[in-house]
Amino acid sequence: MKQFKRHIITSALPYANGPIHIGHLAGVYIPADIYVRYLRSKGEDVVWVCGSDEHGVAIELKARKEGKPPQEIVDFYHNQIKESFLEFGISFDIYHRTSSKLHHKTAADFFKQMEAEGKFKIETSKQFYDEKESQFLADRYIKGTCPVCGFQEAYGDQCENCGSTLSPTELKFPRSMLSGEAPVIRETKHWYLPLDEYEPWLKDWLLEGHKEWKPNVYGQCKSWIDNGLRPRPMTRDLNWGIPVSVEGGEGKVLYVWFDAPIGYISATKQWAIDNGKNWEVYWKGDDTRLLHFIGKDNIVFHCIVFPTILKAAGGYVLPDNVPANEFLNLEGSKISTSRNWAVWLHEYLEDLPGKQDTLRYTLTANAPEIKDNDFTWKDFQTRNNSELVAIFGNFVNRAVVLIHKYFDGKLPERGELQPIDNEIIKSIKEAPQRIADSLDQFKFREALFQLMELARAGNKYLADTEPWKLIKEDKGRVETILNIAVQISVNLSILCEPFLPFTAEKLISILAIEKSKWSAAGSIDLTESGHQLNKAALLFEKIEDKEVEAQVNKLLKTKKMNEQEKLTPNLPALKDEVVFDDFIKMDLRVGEIKTAQRLEKSNKLLKFSVDMGLETRTILSGVAKHFTPEEMIGKRVTVVANLAPRKIMGIESQGMLLFAENSDGKLVMVSPEEDAENGASIS
Ligand code: MF3
Ligand code: ZN
Repeated sequence: MKQFKRHIITSALPYANGPIHIGHLAGVYIPADIYVRYLRSKGEDVVWVCGSDEHGVAIELKARKEGKPPQEIVDFYHNQIKESFLEFGISFDIYHRTSSKLHHKTAADFFKQMEAEGKFKIETSKQFYDEKESQFLADRYIKGTCPVCGFQEAYGDQCENCGSTLSPTELKFPRSMLSGEAPVIRETKHWYLPLDEYEPWLKDWLLEGHKEWKPNVYGQCKSWIDNGLRPRPMTRDLNWGIPVSVEGGEGKVLYVWFDAPIGYISATKQWAIDNGKNWEVYWKGDDTRLLHFIGKDNIVFHCIVFPTILKAAGGYVLPDNVPANEFLNLEGSKISTSRNWAVWLHEYLEDLPGKQDTLRYTLTANAPEIKDNDFTWKDFQTRNNSELVAIFGNFVNRAVVLIHKYFDGKLPERGELQPIDNEIIKSIKEAPQRIADSLDQFKFREALFQLMELARAGNKYLADTEPWKLIKEDKGRVETILNIAVQISVNLSILCEPFLPFTAEKLISILAIEKSKWSAAGSIDLTESGHQLNKAALLFEKIEDKEVEAQVNKLLKTKKMNEQEKLTPNLPALKDEVVFDDFIKMDLRVGEIKTAQRLEKSNKLLKFSVDMGLETRTILSGVAKHFTPEEMIGKRVTVVANLAPRKIMGIESQGMLLFAENSDGKLVMVSPEEDAENGASIS
């Protein structure tokens, strides 16, 4: 095997158009984190880069949906995602972003250089164009009737009803999602990466040269290449993205899958600036090992497209491996952002604070390494209670508590060894290599299992030797047993760190030791006798039924809401339940509008005086687009009478008027059907 001097590790840049969930963690970031922590512990030179993917249609669509500028959207999610990663101990060396200046320049220069060297083919093609919005339409911006199944809401690139891959011109009755109008066809020019020309090279480099890649990854690449590769446009007619700064590129941006992977390079540049290092050594030295951690939907981009870009640009290292994972499902269904079917990291942290390692553990034990896998809350609870608490936690706790009980917390000396001691010592010696062998093959589940085998062996060792029974008649024997138990614990603190970093830290503090490197593990002389331990503290807490029930109920509610939404897509989903005591806090009254006028500086607000029986109130309401002041005078209305007054544009508004909103956004008054006096209470 080739000897490498350093590692550059990348993990897929998440789109900054939504929060991240357990599927992201399980598929990409936890395996990468384990691997990187392991390399660091071995003292390797390693840089792990990541960041937010902030361009592309997905971001533009989200911004449109929320009526906000794209930059505002990516700023928000970039910060939220960064925070979630930090909270889960995902230890990137840098978390960068693709809307940064440095990235824009890096990607634009990449493109410019490749263009100057004639690496692209410029071609004209026919594309849909929205005349009303004066814009070419990305495939995702076109909807129409699926030619295969007749579904009327099919997208330009895919029918979500029958799963067919489509091209927008195949749709029947296509319509633009921007204006709703039928788009016209126009010619447009784009810069294509001629993947077909790289086919022989890809066959040689990848299919011949990397047979060791995971079968799911290799298989997908082989089928892409065997089916024949076609040139792919590296530019797009969009507004949001990195401008194509070569002649004829006005109004175009770089394809997001061109710019985003280059984000790995710009992130490395930023890291190098921050740390006084040279980025080029990491990307151009042929003794650098490049690894991409990704999910299966990213395989073609990381195994075929990006390597071809690097090859075409010239001088860059190519990935040595791409350990992609399959998908994680949640309680039997596919994780879906739009259907809110996910466990969001920021919510997990709120609901189950301090339990990051339990999630890391469950997601690793269940990682979708060779096939899709399922996360269930029941399994989460079982793994925590019967593995982390009952085996790992219990073992360490017993050892430390007994040492405090019998030896004032000071590590006793080992005496003569018995066969049972030699047996466990053998397990200790072999554990690091066993775990390392699995990690080296990206078999994280297996590695975690090997780690737990050591904890299990320790637990069994104490159960078999029963030092609590021996203490009266053979204190010397107890000294040996507990010394060994502590040596196991120290080993666990080193070996568990890549998987369970928070636990490792706790364990180190209980044992009152310094953090050691991987190479120290396997020894039974990691701490000297006489060493004073700190007091025992629980490494893991039991998770009660009611905690997982709350999570399951949350999902059931989502399911119900999704079903309701399917039946009545035009009605908003029901809000959370309130108790009666909360409801009766609201004071709703009948009122009558006496005067109504426009406000000078606002085209939204009307100012009303409302007769409430006991008194007349001034109320501002944002209905100027729906009603004229004149038509409102004399109308009976429903008023929230005990809403705290609010100053709006310098005027105090002393209540709120209620309206019903139709699905087309039109407001309708809510008035008593028969006469009810002004000030009458509504309940
Ligand atoms: N944002 C993409 C996704 O979530 C991944 C981009 S990976 C990169 O699928 F290589 F382009 F950075
Ligand atoms: Zn279809």
